[in-house]
Amino acid sequence: MTYTFVTLFKNLVEGYFQDSILKRAVDSNILNLNYLNPRDFSDSKHDKVDDTAVGGGAGMVMNPQPLFDALEYLKSDDENVHIIFLTPVAKPFKQNDAKRLAEKSHIAFVSGRYEGIDERVIEEFADEVFSIGDYILTGGELASLVMCDSISRNIEGVLGNIDSLSVESFETPLLEAPSFSKPQVYKENSVPSEYLKGNHSKIRSLKLALSECKTKFFRPEQLLKHRTRISYEK
Ligand code: ADE
Repeated sequence: MTYTFVTLFKNLVEGYFQDSILKRAVDSNILNLNYLNPRDFSDSKHDKVDDTAVGGGAGMVMNPQPLFDALEYLKSDDENVHIIFLTPVAKPFKQNDAKRLAEKSHIAFVSGRYEGIDERVIEEFADEVFSIGDYILTGGELASLVMCDSISRNIEGVLGNIDSLSVESFETPLLEAPSFSKPQVYKENSVPSEYLKGNHSKIRSLKLALSECKTKFFRPEQLLKHRTRISYEK
């Protein structure tokens, strides 16, 4: 997988790949990273990339020209590149998107700054537009990293243990059951005794019950989805 980050602030992105799982994936060439700075494509005298909004409104909007030229350059280099814009005005990014996008060969993440990107750029180039949640970030870079991380762990070879993908939260409507590490007793609190007894069918039932509790507490709408699915399967 090749990722191209189209951003004015490469430094915000680069650091994330300098440690842990994604560093290993980059070092073993499972992931290739490119960066494209719209400022390098600006035709203006002072490499300007933003201006006040036409029609009024607070803040600055990213001009179409530098982004148009950057994205045309990107597409001329790889016509199969899948271009994703990050903005709060978009569909929410979900686990099934992460799995689907892991099949692509090249994804470009276009991050806006300031008050956003001239809509004509999005209209012209977006294959998809995503928001990572109902809150406003100072720019799309963090959102692109969130998506990139989540997509990458679905690419073969990135995670050591492929089993860990199948029982995770959001693979089913239920949230994952709690996990425990050693020691069995820590500060007088023991892990659930069933976890210790080695009866795998009992452990499975307990984990399911705990999953349902967690889901009911944190995401009641997901529990409803789970119960509807179960009654449908019966
Ligand atoms: N840019 C600013 N806020 C964002 C969000 N919630 N998701 C994606 N991109 C953004």
